[in-house]
Amino acid sequence: MPMNNKLYRIGQLSKKAELPISTLNHYLNLKLIKPEKVIGSGYRLFSNKTLETILEIQKLKKEYLPLSVIKQQLRKGRELLIKEPSAQYRQLTLPTFEPEYPPITFQFPSTRFQGSKLKLVEWIWQNCKHLDFNSVLDAFGGTACVSYLFKTRGKQVFYNDYLKSNYYIGLALIENSRETLTQEDVEEILKRHPEMKYPTFIQETFKGIYFTDEENEWLDVVVTNIDTLITNIYKKAIAYFALFQSCVIKRPYNLFHRKNLYMRTAKVKRSFGNKITWDTPFPVHFVRFVEQANESIFDNGQKNKAFCTDAFDVKGKYDLVYIDTPYISSKGVGVDYLEFYHFLEGLVKYNKWETLIDWKSKHRRIKHGKSIWNDKNKIYQAFDTLFKKFADSILVVSYRSDGIPSDADLMSLLKKYKAKVIELNRKNYKYVLSNNGESQELLFVAE
Ligand SMILES: C[S@@+](CC[C@H](N)C(=O)[O-])C[C@H]1O[C@@H](n2cnc3c(N)ncnc32)[C@H](O)[C@@H]1O
Repeated sequence: MPMNNKLYRIGQLSKKAELPISTLNHYLNLKLIKPEKVIGSGYRLFSNKTLETILEIQKLKKEYLPLSVIKQQLRKGRELLIKEPSAQYRQLTLPTFEPEYPPITFQFPSTRFQGSKLKLVEWIWQNCKHLDFNSVLDAFGGTACVSYLFKTRGKQVFYNDYLKSNYYIGLALIENSRETLTQEDVEEILKRHPEMKYPTFIQETFKGIYFTDEENEWLDVVVTNIDTLITNIYKKAIAYFALFQSCVIKRPYNLFHRKNLYMRTAKVKRSFGNKITWDTPFPVHFVRFVEQANESIFDNGQKNKAFCTDAFDVKGKYDLVYIDTPYISSKGVGVDYLEFYHFLEGLVKYNKWETLIDWKSKHRRIKHGKSIWNDKNKIYQAFDTLFKKFADSILVVSYRSDGIPSDADLMSLLKKYKAKVIELNRKNYKYVLSNNGESQELLFVAE
């Protein structure tokens, strides 16, 4: 093979090597291959040299050599293309061996989700890594980036979120260890199939609210294709994930809390926002997010699971429970996730969306009552009940220094159930869409 200096992302490498990304991630975990370099955003780049190593590994696997032996061979730099395998390794079935799962590079898709801890995961890990745990429940999982952190550290991860749209993210990135969306899958999803009859629900219901007419039509087609043509649950979850990300990135404030398409379309001088991103066609965003998701999928050797339920109803025992509830500001205003992301929730409940909508609202929100996690009068009771429920686990709690409850209140609630509670404070962390420079990120570690 002629050598050149071309560098590939993991998705491109997977195509060239004709192997799923999960296999490449497994090789990375075992340190059979390594990236040529890692660029700023965390993306790994591979050279033709890596490709050659992969092809050699595949040849050796055909000779029934276990990966542990292949690794030794690669390390010694011996001639790898063994034509006649030694009798010692000539076997009829692949031998079993215990793989090691050292942490892989943290390669998580970009996100604009409210309250995401993506920029804080390393700080969270630094304060948890000394704890003795294997199973971990991420009870309010959101974007799944904290679950993903634990997955990269070889833990058995249980993701939970009460929103079905978020649950699909947990399925795609946490429970899923090997499925990716192929180019053919993406083509199936993006094209209008002449034999199919497409509904026009989004075009009719959300006209002039969030997206243009043409974009609404695209959404009706794509959501129907995902729902009816993609049968594998993990592939479906990746497709929904890419669809959510594409919708969010094209929205002013990245939310669905108001009818404000005019902010995108008005011919005015703008001092904020990103008109180019808003106007980039849906398929371009979609393909990019599929690639990002594909590149994030790997097997950590554990049976990880995603749930979709109220945190109070999660069953099972976990060594550690990570708690990152919606935040209530000092003024008593809570972050209502269903209010912000109802449109994504509607996409995954497309066939019954009509029955869920509050038709009196201009922005066609989904009807729902006030959650205990948004109610400043009930929030103490909510935390108390949750801490009690998981009192046998190590509790790790994220919150903000200027919220309700206060840090002192959270500390005393935790102390009711735990002997040792440490409060950590992350200074100078900047929150998305927040003007409150005083607010600081807190982490309680309770054993
Ligand atoms: C602060 S966010 C979590 C962010 C997440 N740690 C991340 O980094 O992306 C809170 C999450 O809790 C979810 N949620 C709200 N009420 C819930 C409940 N009663 N049970 C489970 N999840 C809930 C919301 O949908 C939201 O995704």
